[in-house]
Order: sequence, then C-alpha cells, then structure tokens
Amino acid sequence: MKQSEFKKRRKQLMQRIGKGNIALIGSASVRTRNRDVDYPFRQDSDFYYLTGFNEPDALAVFIPGREQGEYILFCREFDEKKALWEGAHAGLEGATKNYAAHDSFPIDDVDEILSGMLENKNKVFYPMGRNSDLDHDLIGWITHIRNQSRTGVVAPVELASIEPILHEMRLFKTTAELALMRRAAEVSVQAHVKAMQLCHAGRYEYQIEADIVHHLMQSGLRAVAYPSIVASGKNACTLHYTENKAQLKNGDLLLIDAGAECDHYAADITRTFPISGKFTEPQAQLYQLVLNAQLAAIEQIKPNIPWNAAHDISVEIITKGLVKLGLLKGRVPKLIKDEKYKQFYMHRIGHWLGMDVHDVGDYKLNQEWRKLQPGMVLTIEPGLYIPENCKTVDKKWRGIGIRIEDDILVTKTGHEILTNGVPKTIADIETLMARDKEIG
Ligand code: GLY
Ligand code: MN
Ligand code: MN
Repeated sequence: MKQSEFKKRRKQLMQRIGKGNIALIGSASVRTRNRDVDYPFRQDSDFYYLTGFNEPDALAVFIPGREQGEYILFCREFDEKKALWEGAHAGLEGATKNYAAHDSFPIDDVDEILSGMLENKNKVFYPMGRNSDLDHDLIGWITHIRNQSRTGVVAPVELASIEPILHEMRLFKTTAELALMRRAAEVSVQAHVKAMQLCHAGRYEYQIEADIVHHLMQSGLRAVAYPSIVASGKNACTLHYTENKAQLKNGDLLLIDAGAECDHYAADITRTFPISGKFTEPQAQLYQLVLNAQLAAIEQIKPNIPWNAAHDISVEIITKGLVKLGLLKGRVPKLIKDEKYKQFYMHRIGHWLGMDVHDVGDYKLNQEWRKLQPGMVLTIEPGLYIPENCKTVDKKWRGIGIRIEDDILVTKTGHEILTNGVPKTIADIETLMARDKEIG
C-alpha cells in the first residue's frame, strides 16, 4: 500500500476530528507465548489503517492544525543491539522519513510529551475501552494537566470514541484496498481448489489445513486471516471447530472455512464437499438447499438494499426447504416467526469483511438496518447444521454440517463476487473431484 493512501486517510480523519481536538491510537503489543517466545505480531487494524507502521510499542497522535505538524508518531528509538537480535525497526528518523510522520518521539518519553500535547485541547478521540493501558494512561495525563490548572492550562473536558469515525471510513473500501482484498481472495480460491483436489479418505483434517497454508505461503501470503476450520463429518456442526485432527472418511462431507490475509486484508471462504468426491442423496438435498439460499441471498446484494434483506431471504428459503424435506413441521410463516430454523441455521447470513475478518462498521443506523452502498464488502454464508443427537429428524440427516461462503463487493450497479473461482454447484464439485481422482 502506498504512503499516499495512508496520507489520504489521515487527512480525512483530521477533518472529522476538527481543530481544537486531538486523537490518539496505539499499536498492538507483542504478547508472550512462552519463555522468550512471542506470538506472531499482528498490528492493530485501526493503527495500521492510519499509519502503515508495522511495529509494536508505538502511539500515533493526530492534532489538526498543529503548526509543528499534525501527525506525530511515538515509537521505539533505533537500537543497534535490537536490530541485530530482532531485525529492522524504523527508529525516530525512519518514522518521519519513511512513514511521513511530521514529528516523532521516543515511546519512553510519551508521559512527559503527550501531557503537553493534550493541554488546551477540548476533546480527545481514542479507542475507548479497547486497551486498558491507554485508558489508564490517558486519565493520568489529563489528571496531570488538571493539577496544573493554576498555571492557566486547561485539561480536555470530553473523551470520545474514535471508532465511529474510523470504522465508518474503513467500511468503504478504496481501489487500493480492493486490490489487496482481490489478491487475498484469489490466492484463497486457489487454496480451496487445491484442498478439494488433494482430499481423500485416510488423510487427516490437519493435513488438508497444511495444504491450504502451503499454497498461501508459496503464493507470498504469510498469514491466514483466522484459524482455518477443516471439519469432516459431524465436526462441521461445531461452528468454530479448529481442532482439525480427525481422519477423513468416505461418506462424510468436509467443510473448509479458510482465508488468507494480504497486507492486513482478509479473505473468508467456506466450501463443503464430499470426501469421496460424490454426494450421498441426503447430503445433496441439504447441500442444494444451502446453495439455493446462498445464491438468492447474493442476488439481493446491490446499493440501497437493506443489510438484512439477504438474511431474510436465506431464512425463508431454508425454512421452506426444511419443511419440504421433513426436518421441520408446520406452516412456514409461523416457523419463521418462532425462529424454528435456528435449531439448524443459528448464525446470521454474514458480516462486513476488510482488515478484520469480522470487520468494523455499523450494521444499523438509527436502529434501522443500514442500506448497502458501493465499496462495502461482506460475506454471504448461510449454513445448515444437523446435530448428531437430533432426535426430531430422520437418522439420515444427522451429523451433517454444511456452509457455503463467498466474499461480495457492492458495486454501483449490483455486486461482484470476489471468490467465485471455487466450484460450488454439486455438478462442478463432483466433476472437479472425479477428474482429480482419475489423474490419481
Ligand atoms: N471464518 C469466520 C466466519 O466465517 O465468519
Ligand atoms: Mn465469514
Ligand atoms: Mn468463514
């Protein structure tokens, strides 16, 4: 991502904060895994969105109209020994030179310097309640100023969450952001196709997970956007199954929910297919129902359609289908009103997608479902999960879990499916898997 993109975002943020006010946002921290070993570092999405700065121990400050510079970055000073052991870091000079900060200061001096910056500001925008250290420090800095009020300085009188401003910006993706999302989607699509080709009975779920990660890394994307779900048979009925340790059996379905991250932007794809390469009759019936719901929901996606329209149509199709197949009994409108479908379809149709897999942005405005607008990206992922111990349905349905998930961009005229390259009709899946089996 070019520096100019981050600059544009900072400019927009400054305008929305307004003169006389200040905004703070902290980086993510390194977390210890076990003695001397850290978890892989992942920058805070809001912080990265505004700075492009990929280091821990940093704090970005925005002061619209500040004469010495509006964008200040507190970060680690350059340290030769640290560079030798842990690798490159920008240092104060790099922060201004390479990341276009107007001013930079050592993070170790933040207490002294930031109090001064907060003086005589009216309102402080920050990610309220997200990082208890920052919450605590901010109150300390403000108290420090208040204690000096006899010298004539005035402490801020209002604290506000920066999230509504920032998250509304993040909800609408620019061309540069979409380029990264398309790349994440493209490589994830290939990984899912590979997984279908490499799937056969006797292998383990984690081996399929390894095939996926292998493809992402070989393609230059080092991280998954979330832990991959590779769930065979009844494991697919556990929505967040990530154990991925069972052996694959012919006759079962395999549900894979996996996506790559490309420069902090996510893809999120789910496919469900038969391990043997051929659906059984009950599997095919439920699968076709989920697919019908997904296709109809995707059809809804266009500007000015409320967010819940896609969900509502998926509920209608799934409820009707479950009645037809005999898994639910009763009148469809009443079953929908009583939410009986939730026994088998217990999550919503999808979510915003962006830097975070469950991305930021409000789903309702003034308590009404918001209308879709060009530039928004969302997932459409209906599913059906029939618990193994569900006594109210015929045995043949039990232990089947199915979800189909694609990533959809809202365009001016309708939508674009970013993840269309993975087969999802029964015929296409069976053809791909049969061809692969023949090749061996
Ligand atoms: N992979 C998480 C989700 O589909 O929402
Ligand atoms: Mn999802
Ligand atoms: Mn998913």
